[in-house]
Parts: sequence; structure tokens; C-alpha cells
Amino acid sequence: ISVNMPPCVAFHNGHFTAEDLITKVTRSGDLAGVFYDTDAWRALPPETAIYQVEMLKSPQGEGELYAGTTHLNPGRIGDEFYMTRGHFHQRREQGEVYFGLRGTGLLLLQDEQGKARFEQVSPGSVHIIPGATAHRLINTGTEVLSALAVWPTIAGHDYAALAQGFALRVVLQGGKIHGKEVQNG
Ligand code: F6R
Ligand code: ZN
Repeated sequence: ISVNMPPCVAFHNGHFTAEDLITKVTRSGDLAGVFYDTDAWRALPPETAIYQVEMLKSPQGEGELYAGTTHLNPGRIGDEFYMTRGHFHQRREQGEVYFGLRGTGLLLLQDEQGKARFEQVSPGSVHIIPGATAHRLINTGTEVLSALAVWPTIAGHDYAALAQGFALRVVLQGGKIHGKEVQNG
């Protein structure tokens, strides 16, 4: 028989072994307006790496899928834990699956009515993100949080729809991880 070697992802750290990877680093300077403590955000060197996405190249089109790992560093800006920007998919009906691989954190999910909830992310956790649901990873631990994601190539990203931010923030308060509701307006 003839067998092709597919790319591999290491389940202990989420790194891919593949010839052709796409990688993108998001730095604190890219995240203006994302963290609520703007003084603390300004005090951080803008080149500080917050997260990195590494993904496989995929054919484009209806029915095709991307696979990519997000590596979210541990840390806080002020008392707020490092997190991804978060987004709805441009094609609202398109869902996604996240798999926790390394580290611990939260997946913040929010529907179009603004109702938000958390899922605990840890090695082996499986998260079905339904359509029309914005999603953001938050690293509440002390090591890198790595999560593998699989999503349709046609999904796209809509960051603008969340310009006002999510309804919940996660902060360290009195040494404890605390979710707090954001007052709108
Ligand atoms: C793709 C997806 C993830 C994120 C990544 C970075 O649909 O959900 O690959 O793109 O975690 O987060 P954002 O895109 O919000 O900066
Ligand atoms: Zn997504």
C-alpha cells in the first residue's frame, strides 16, 4: 500500500510538524482597546508577544477546513489575564471546534444577544462553538495555554462586531480568578 504522511500536531504542546505553516504573532501593541486598564496597557512595551497562531495551509472554499493552534502566553495587563482579541465569524452560521492541549484557561462564548458564558479549557477538553457565537481564549494559568482549533475556511473573522467588547472580563482579584460583568455604555 502507498501511504502519505500527514502533518502532525504534538498533543503536549500543540506545535505542528509540517513543511508549510502559517504563523502570526499578536503583540500587545496590536490590541488597543482590548484590555480595560489602558494605563497598564500603555506601560507594556508594544512588542510584547501575547499570542501566536500556527496553522496549516488549506485549500479554500465551501467544505474546506483550517486547523490551527493558538498559543496564548500567561500574564496580565493590570489585573486582567492575557486573552485573544475574540471574534464572531464573518459567516455567522459557521461553527468551530477547540481542543485544549496545554495549560489552563477559559473559553469565553457570547451570543448575538450579548449573553456570555465560560467553558473551562484544559488538556483534552473539547469545545463545540456553535454558529453566531463570538469566542475568546483567556489564559488564567501560569504556563502557555495552547488550543487546537478546526474551522471552515469560508468562516472568516468579524472583529468589528465586538468593538464594544465582551460582556464578561476575567481578572485576578484578591489572589483569585474572578469573572466580572461589564456595564454597557
Ligand atoms: C479561528 C479561531 C482561532 C483564532 C485565534 C486568535 O476562527 O477562532 O484560530 O483566530 O485564537 O484569536 P483572534 O482571531 O480572536 O485574534
Ligand atoms: Zn473562530
